[in-house]
Amino acid sequence: MRVLVTGGAGYIGSVVAAQLLAAGHEVTILDDLSTGHSDAVPQGAHFVKGTLRDCVAEVLADGADAVVHLAAKSLVGESMADPSKYWSGNLGTTLTLLEAMRVIGVRSIVFSSTAAVYGEPERTPVLETDPLRPTSPYGGSKTAIDTTLTEFARLFGLAPVSLRYFNVAGAHHVAGEGGGWLGERHHPETHLIPNTLAAATQGRPLNVFGTDYPTPDGTCVRDYIHVTDVADAHLRALDACEPGRHRIYNLGSQAGFSVREVIEVCRDVTGLDVAVTEAARRPGDPAVLVASSERIKAELGWTPTRDLRAMAADAWQFTQAQARAQADRAAAEGPGQSNAAAEGPGQSNAAAEGPGQSNAAAGGPGQSNAAAEGPGQSNAAAEGPGQSNAAAEGPGQSNAAAEGPGKTNAASEAGPSPKAPGPATS
Ligand SMILES: NC(=O)c1ccc[n+]([C@@H]2O[C@H](COP(=O)([O-])OP(=O)(O)OC[C@H]3O[C@@H](n4cnc5c(N)ncnc54)[C@H](O)[C@@H]3O)[C@@H](O)[C@H]2O)c1
Repeated sequence: MRVLVTGGAGYIGSVVAAQLLAAGHEVTILDDLSTGHSDAVPQGAHFVKGTLRDCVAEVLADGADAVVHLAAKSLVGESMADPSKYWSGNLGTTLTLLEAMRVIGVRSIVFSSTAAVYGEPERTPVLETDPLRPTSPYGGSKTAIDTTLTEFARLFGLAPVSLRYFNVAGAHHVAGEGGGWLGERHHPETHLIPNTLAAATQGRPLNVFGTDYPTPDGTCVRDYIHVTDVADAHLRALDACEPGRHRIYNLGSQAGFSVREVIEVCRDVTGLDVAVTEAARRPGDPAVLVASSERIKAELGWTPTRDLRAMAADAWQFTQAQARAQADRAAAEGPGQSNAAAEGPGQSNAAAEGPGQSNAAAGGPGQSNAAAEGPGQSNAAAEGPGQSNAAAEGPGQSNAAAEGPGKTNAASEAGPSPKAPGPATS
């Protein structure tokens, strides 16, 4: 099958794409790299860098039998601060995709929905038939997409499957040449396991939000599933796509683990201590969120095969592989000057990092981001009619400048060098 994977340079999408390739499918990835990483695109996939809105019709017209649609903005907090970004970025772009599918005649679609559509459920485990009460624009946008898929199935014979993921965790290993670990690299990271591993390696405390919940140890209980199991569910869902019928499945393990239990497993797997800071509850965090996955088990024969320890162990392998790759890059860069420049019609990102002087410059009609970091002098400059962001950081002198008629942000941060801090202009 020729499968278009939107968001295939992201965490879950890259693993889905790798599994599709391993199963012998042809894969095209469409991703704008807004939160994804080009080095996560699995070998063998055809990669198109672009936004759904601008490129999806053309990419579909090139030939596709099915779509796995993961591309989305997915930060709950950000969605509360900037709801339009989520309604437009998630619902709006999905409408563009669905219209293109309708016109071109592609029917099968597997959609990444979420537990956030249920909001704060009245009971657990949560069933697919339970009320949808999203408490954020993120959850709202995913709920609206689920509703749209139901309508497109009824009105146009679309063949959609929605998978409502609970907490996805772990990393996936691709064997063979060009393989390696695919894992979670969100910025900012909001998920517990990668944050716990980062706290462990950096020797800083981890915030635990709420220790007075009505749970056995007072911390929130969540349902975790391994990303490899999630990818497996997508392959089964693709086979189950049926014109005119919208199938909806929860993806969870039917078991919950508390925040303290997860931290304990991470301590065990890494052999490192994790200091904990007890913080207040976050608004809207339910005490327990566990999925019933009876429906997908009965209808598609899917069951999770990897436990919490495997998730933490694989995420730890990925973290270590990333650290090794970063060390190799730094060694290859050498102590000289590092320069990066980006300019183009879309978003332009430039990042320079190295032990010597680091210079980054970005400019273009879209958003321009420049970041420079290193122990030597760090200079970052962003300029353009769109939003311009520049950030320079390091113990040496740091200079950041952002300029243009759009929103401008410049930040320079320096450590204990006699030359610090550098000026920040905008
Ligand atoms: N990670 C979880 O635990 C979890 C839980 C529930 C649901 N989900 C959903 O799963 C999907 C994947 O999540 P993830 O954790 O892999 O996120 P991610 O940010 O790593 O991946 C999303 C990818 O989509 C791309 N993208 C975003 N908007 C785009 C656009 N308009 N055009 C083209 N590409 C675009 C990004 O660059 C990124 O590569 C999302 O839809 C998310 O809402 C994730």
